[in-house]
Amino acid sequence: MNGPRKHVYVKSFGCQMNVYDSRRMADTLAPEGYSETPSAEAADLVILNTCHIRDKAAEKVYSELGRIRRLKEAAAADGRRVVVAVAGCVAQAEGDEIIRRQPAVDVVVGPQSYHRLPELLQRAARDGRAVDTEFPVDDKFAHLAAPSPAAVRARGASAFITVQEGCDKFCTFCVVPYTRGAELSRPVRAIVAEAEQLAAAGVREVSLIGQNVNAYHGEGPDGWPWPLAQLLHRIAAIGGIERLRYTTSHPRDMSDDLVAAHRDLASLMPQLHLPVQSGSDRVLAAMNRRHTRADYLDLVRRLRDARPDLALTSDFIVGFPGETAADFAATLDLIDEAGFSGAFSFKYSPRPGTPGADMDDQIDEDTKSERLQRLQGAIERHQTAFNRRCLHRSLDVLFERTGRHPGQLVGRSPYLQPVQVTAPASLIGEIAPVTIAEIGSNSLFGVLTSQPRPRAQERDLLAAGA
Ligand code: 5AD
Ligand code: SF4
Repeated sequence: MNGPRKHVYVKSFGCQMNVYDSRRMADTLAPEGYSETPSAEAADLVILNTCHIRDKAAEKVYSELGRIRRLKEAAAADGRRVVVAVAGCVAQAEGDEIIRRQPAVDVVVGPQSYHRLPELLQRAARDGRAVDTEFPVDDKFAHLAAPSPAAVRARGASAFITVQEGCDKFCTFCVVPYTRGAELSRPVRAIVAEAEQLAAAGVREVSLIGQNVNAYHGEGPDGWPWPLAQLLHRIAAIGGIERLRYTTSHPRDMSDDLVAAHRDLASLMPQLHLPVQSGSDRVLAAMNRRHTRADYLDLVRRLRDARPDLALTSDFIVGFPGETAADFAATLDLIDEAGFSGAFSFKYSPRPGTPGADMDDQIDEDTKSERLQRLQGAIERHQTAFNRRCLHRSLDVLFERTGRHPGQLVGRSPYLQPVQVTAPASLIGEIAPVTIAEIGSNSLFGVLTSQPRPRAQERDLLAAGA
């Protein structure tokens, strides 16, 4: 590394895939002399890792770019050069249109080209601008630098690993198949190596992520494609990894072996995010979801047979073109039948280039707002009911960080609920049983039940009487 240290500020919008990508971009820039800074003002390089899923998400990027432009101008007045890069799905969808709309932008880089960032920065320094929104054939993951153990530790005991990207489902509302491209699974060997590095640095929980994660079919060490269930079993065997999760899944790809993993795999947490979008067969068909309401409810029943305490969350869209009052009532009814522990819900946002945007019978904003409010009320009732069932139970909590009040730690229950507890900071990164004493609006409050639970292998030895 030559010259003085430089600072990079990376801001993520949107989903967990972007959070993961942002980290990998920072890792790739570390050998170039960049260290991460949490402050845009202190940065020599600002990267906005953007989301294009809904109109609001994309607009947020442009308003943030306005703020960054003023920072860049102020720095220039001080004789300091700030480079601005736009990455992610807005970059992919809009390409150099972004530079036309906001000339302060120097680099536009699509999600498949992050490994070329160092080269793009050099090109921008030379030519003033660099744009790369190709879908290259080479595997970007093979070229992205691994994080240092210190960087892993700083990011905490729970980590993401992207195992697949892109989507072939083409739901009629969704831009993902256009911005992230065709479904592509990483080989098992690369994922296992990444998980082993994380475990060695102290990570206890791994979430396998992908736009359509349960469509995973990466090449196994035996040369055959492995399904997600087999990958989960393999990663569960890595010492130190106590908890596994995966997200986001499509109901159609929820295979029997994956359902069985929820029964057989102790470290697979009893929590699943399974977007359904609507409870009306008519709307599901118009959305090209490729399953019916009955298919979904049957799947939920099979999952609950495998894991009775499963916390199920979902995504919903209200006001999809043609959605009638009866269709919407069917969605409310499905919520009651399935019993969710939480959900994300959105007003339908027409995305240019997707089939939904050209459909007749677009729904007016007032109707969308009214339906969203009613849907969120229903979800809240279910969430509260689920949380109440946890009251006075002892749940294992993985402590992630200090809380807002002195002496307080925040962690996650197996069901992914945030739990706040008075506990020593030495428990950060550890799993300890907590008795739930109170239900708040956004988190649970508890007290330590006893000493931290032993790690999985030790527990297994104890169970075997060794
Ligand atoms: N409008 C509203 N919500 C959308 N989502 C995806 N595309 C749109 C859109 N055009 C929601 C879906 C998806 C989640 C990630 O975002 O519910 O599951
Ligand atoms: Fe988009 Fe998910 Fe449908 Fe794929 S499965 S098109 S990512 S909503």
